[in-house]
Amino acid sequence: MTMSDPTPKSFDLRSLVESRRDETIDLLREHINPKLAKVFSMIGFDRVYPRGEGAYLWDREDRKYLDCLSGYGMFNIGRNHPVLKQAVRDYLDMDDAWKIQMAPMTLPGLLAEKLLSKVPHLQKVQFTNTGTECVEVALKFARCETGRERVLYCERAFHGLTYGSLSLNGCPSFREGFLSFLPGAVSVPFGDLVALEKALDLAPTAALFLEPIQGKGVYVASKEYLLGAQELCRRHGTRLVVDEVQSGMGRTGKLFAFQHVEGLEPDMVLVAKSLSGGLVPVGAVLVRDETYEAVFSTLDRCVVHSSTFAQGGLAMACGLATFHVLETEGMIDNAADKGHKLIEALRGLVPQFEMLKEIRGEGMMIGIEFGEPKSFTLKTGWSLLHKADVGLFPQAIIMPLLHDHRVLAQVAGHHVDIIKLLPTLTWTDEDVRWFLDAFTQVLERCHRFPGPLWTTAKGLVKMAASSRH
Ligand SMILES: Cc1ncc(COP(=O)(O)O)c(C=O)c1O
Repeated sequence: MTMSDPTPKSFDLRSLVESRRDETIDLLREHINPKLAKVFSMIGFDRVYPRGEGAYLWDREDRKYLDCLSGYGMFNIGRNHPVLKQAVRDYLDMDDAWKIQMAPMTLPGLLAEKLLSKVPHLQKVQFTNTGTECVEVALKFARCETGRERVLYCERAFHGLTYGSLSLNGCPSFREGFLSFLPGAVSVPFGDLVALEKALDLAPTAALFLEPIQGKGVYVASKEYLLGAQELCRRHGTRLVVDEVQSGMGRTGKLFAFQHVEGLEPDMVLVAKSLSGGLVPVGAVLVRDETYEAVFSTLDRCVVHSSTFAQGGLAMACGLATFHVLETEGMIDNAADKGHKLIEALRGLVPQFEMLKEIRGEGMMIGIEFGEPKSFTLKTGWSLLHKADVGLFPQAIIMPLLHDHRVLAQVAGHHVDIIKLLPTLTWTDEDVRWFLDAFTQVLERCHRFPGPLWTTAKGLVKMAASSRH
């Protein structure tokens, strides 16, 4: 519209998106991330899903898919939950001021009250916009409260990809190329109390950052390790920071994974992803009063940490609606039930399939690890593939899962033979069967060498080699 045009055209989002759907992968390639577009095309993950609901996606031919990764764990309550959609509509219809900055707001207070009612040993909430920002807050707060610089994190840890959180990343491939990191960030082996005690004895330490279940590879911390780590941290004046960005909001069958362990009371709890039901960026750091007082120590410092969009009205409204859904629809119990069924059934497959090594997890956070087979022919295929490119084997599993069974899954990290399931908490027994039937068929095929999976894998090796050249 020009200033002289008296009839403004309305903005028609649906038509705009529909008219450009064919170009989806081209838009990604041209304007955002050509390498990612190439990977999607190589493995056949370049299909477009115009619709999502609950645990399912629909492609352009209206075929239904079972989603096993729920946007990396952001849709715990399922996509487009009607309660959440209604909350968004209501919020917009309220003409709320959204965010004023220089005035108190009702919605953030209500969501903070709700979060703290679930973690009663903590007393204040610092809202953020993402998971990585939660980690940045926890780093600042722990250093400020203790006056110490050093922080510990675990091998294989993933806490996000900004500089502070990347400094706590236990996976070299994420760190490569980004030069120096936060001084004083030191890694310790996950699950090793002796090593942790040594590290804490070595120098005063502000905090230990822990995922109760590590997302990269799905390694579950034992109760003994978590309680031991808490005891050691208390003895050394070190803050225990539990990162529940992925494991929280009901995923493991409790609201937070640390709540499986009686007596565990972390000094800080980090929540993001599914806190808003996945619709709006959000994060929250739950802390003790002492931590709050140390950071916001004077009236001058009342906004010493903040972020323009944090406590945004829509994010807060979605958070409250998400809690309502979790509390009224039995989703957390359902996650425990379906997760247990999945884990038990998958463990039952281990003796039947020699390349299936171990099943780990809790609730709807499950790792499926493959390992080198014993029989000669399979061993040959396995070594050839791993020599050509470590980390391609699980790709060759997730590809037929998608192409032949319409099951969308992901690999659990770089250079590992692990697949991760992070489904919505809404799965039914039928969904569990859908996944298990599909997975069993893919396993059967990959235990035939030569066979279709190995042909797929060979194709992948070739494509990976040619793209490197
Ligand atoms: C445990 C954990 N912490 C932090 C993050 C970072 O969250 P975000 O991607 O919202 O920055 C993630 C993301 O996957 C995560 O799994």
